[in-house]
Amino acid sequence: MTDLGPVAWPPDPIRTERLVLRESQARDRPVFLELLTCPEVNTYLGGPQSGEDLPAVPESRPGSFVVELDGAMIGHVLLRRATGHRRPAAAGRADLGYLFVPRAWGSGYATEACAAALAWLDDALPDEPVVLTTQTANIASMRLAARLGFTEVERFEAWDAEQWLGLRSPVRGRGGSSR
Ligand SMILES: CC(C)(COP(=O)(O)OP(=O)(O)OC[C@H]1O[C@@H](n2cnc3c(N)ncnc32)[C@H](O)[C@@H]1OP(=O)(O)O)[C@@H](O)C(=O)NCCC(=O)NCCS
Repeated sequence: MTDLGPVAWPPDPIRTERLVLRESQARDRPVFLELLTCPEVNTYLGGPQSGEDLPAVPESRPGSFVVELDGAMIGHVLLRRATGHRRPAAAGRADLGYLFVPRAWGSGYATEACAAALAWLDDALPDEPVVLTTQTANIASMRLAARLGFTEVERFEAWDAEQWLGLRSPVRGRGGSSR
């Protein structure tokens, strides 16, 4: 995975109805550590990691959004370029990933945050399609992908599980803004 391309970074914090999306800061480290090490969060992501490689100041890179609720980080939304993706349909595309702490599940925060990050991308890189890969067994993630407007490209086997590759067409292709 590499950077997205020519986007201005960091952006001004993005405010949604309930959340703020912003670049990462040193104070976010404990929650990044939680996201890496929590077994529940990593059930469909190959299991928890040790977190020992996590830098003291989480890296701020274009498309990497900390999601904040009432001043505290609850999740991470990541838009990257999937240069090394194993499926040709996804290779080189902008790629969406998301992780939220379990105490923030079931309230629509991931939908709200991902929609805001995708709107940011629509502005920053107009006409850019976005891909998403998730295990088909990850029902919450599959439902989130559908709510965000991703549709199935294909299913494939990898990492000992069935994977789902979804695509979100650019705004113009979806009959949205005529920008
Ligand atoms: C994937 C993940 C982000 C989904 O989280 P989520 O809480 O299910 O998703 P949302 O925040 O959008 O919440 C949606 C749920 O909140 C409910 N909800 C409650 N109040 C709501 C509100 N005010 N607005 C919208 N939805 C609301 C919705 O009905 C929905 O529940 P349902 O799916 O049972 O119908 C979360 O499970 C996660 O972090 N998993 C671990 C990491 C992971 O596997 N990532 C995938 C990598 S590919």
